[in-house]
Amino acid sequence: MKGIVLAGGNGTRLRPLTLVGSKQLVPVYDKPMVYYPLSMLMLAGIDDILIITRPTEIEQFRALFGDGSRLGLRIAYATQDEPRGIADAFRVGADHIKGEECALILGDNLFHGARLPSLLRRTARELRGCVLFGHQVAEPWRFGVVETDAKGNPLSIEEKPEHPRSNLAIPGLYFFDDNVTDIAGGLRPSARGELEITDVLRAYLAEGRADLVRLGRGVTWLDTGTHESLLDAGRFVRDMQHHQGIRLGCVEEVAMFMGFISPEACFDLGAEMSGSPYGQYVMESARTHRDNPVPTELLEY
Ligand code: G1P
Repeated sequence: MKGIVLAGGNGTRLRPLTLVGSKQLVPVYDKPMVYYPLSMLMLAGIDDILIITRPTEIEQFRALFGDGSRLGLRIAYATQDEPRGIADAFRVGADHIKGEECALILGDNLFHGARLPSLLRRTARELRGCVLFGHQVAEPWRFGVVETDAKGNPLSIEEKPEHPRSNLAIPGLYFFDDNVTDIAGGLRPSARGELEITDVLRAYLAEGRADLVRLGRGVTWLDTGTHESLLDAGRFVRDMQHHQGIRLGCVEEVAMFMGFISPEACFDLGAEMSGSPYGQYVMESARTHRDNPVPTELLEY
């Protein structure tokens, strides 16, 4: 399965933070925002990833991740010259996906939850059609919203409805089968002029091939669209890390946990940042994992 991180957009709501540079490179506490969604794809077992950015920022992402090999990944880059909507990712990324299954994550979505890694890997394994997630929120009108029947199956999907039919928001993480490029290719822009991801989901729903997986209370989903929510996300990361002595979105550690790189390679990546507590953590985690490897199926994250 291929992965796409969509890190385009103008970040207008975060200006002046995003006047120069990408929103998805803005820090969320101790690391660039994009580390969090990238680590989610990795935890799903995906090691072949396309990062889509604005043309002005592609070199910054390249400087950060290179070809991905240091993390045991294959990372390619493509640009979106104008934000034409999330579903445009499948047009920009068509060559990368090449008729394979694909997971798409938005570069500004943060997830955290103990059973997420196994949930993501199961979702990738059992995919038929598409999988969207549902997460209860207080302000559903800010998101894509899914309505369910009594059995919890998806009934309707709407983009930022004025009068939401449920309080289940659709987070920016989706899994699709190999039809997605065809479906996205046939879309027309919505009233707001964008190729909507919810229209892609609706096409699968119409064919009876959209599965909804509810993210329960054990999972935290944070968006970082405003200054307030960005600070909240940073505080959340800081508090979790401080309290539990772990790091969220630590791509070097995830690469090691997933077996993409050896503990020795992970240690070396940490050593390059040994002047920071983050680098020290990566080195320590590599040492611990070398002596007592955590089996992937027991992975908590
Ligand atoms: C997008 C999607 C929306 C989804 C949200 C998640 O909205 O259009 O369906 O719920 O991401 O972050 P945006 O934040 O781009 O307005």
